[in-house]
Amino acid sequence: MLTFRGIRKGDIERIVELEALCFEDPWPAEAFEIPDYQFSYVALEDDLIIGYIINIVALDEASIASIGIHPDFQRRGYASRLLRHTLRMFKEVVISKVFLDVRPSNRAARNLYLKHGFRYLGVRKGYYQSPPEDALVMAKIEGNNEIL
Ligand SMILES: CC(C)(COP(=O)(O)OP(=O)(O)OC[C@H]1O[C@@H](n2cnc3c(N)ncnc32)[C@H](O)[C@@H]1OP(=O)(O)O)[C@@H](O)C(=O)NCCC(=O)NCCS
Repeated sequence: MLTFRGIRKGDIERIVELEALCFEDPWPAEAFEIPDYQFSYVALEDDLIIGYIINIVALDEASIASIGIHPDFQRRGYASRLLRHTLRMFKEVVISKVFLDVRPSNRAARNLYLKHGFRYLGVRKGYYQSPPEDALVMAKIEGNNEIL
């Protein structure tokens, strides 16, 4: 059974492991030492952490910094459920704007975000390294589905 809970400091080692399985250019362990995990979640299949989402929140805005599902558990709707859970939590605290960056080549992630109401806002030239790529900026803004 899939469940969600807030990230705890002790989860970071497992999250770093998952990040390395999910990304060609994973964040290093230090990057996960963020001041506040309050709006970041892990997804557990029984007792095993198989996914995570890291969010940074400031006032009524949030940025999705990273989301990943273990490759063996992908395409089961888990990222959708994790994202839905996150957006529900944001709504409870009246976060009305959610932003993220995504590689144009990452079709799976782009489709995921489009499915959940994110729209394209712009491009950050040369944002990613290894491999180099621009970033597409996507946003979900309460009451505005007309962006781009
Ligand atoms: C992107 C990612 C989180 C999706 O996780 P997932 O659990 O497999 O996604 P879901 O099963 O919930 O799929 C939700 C939607 O995403 C899209 N999607 C997911 N995988 C896809 C794929 N391989 N190709 C195309 N679309 C895909 C589809 O729109 C899907 O909806 P559908 O099943 O109705 O078609 C996962 O592929 C992953 O961890 N990738 C590596 C890390 C990453 O790229 N993170 C995003 C960084 S911006």
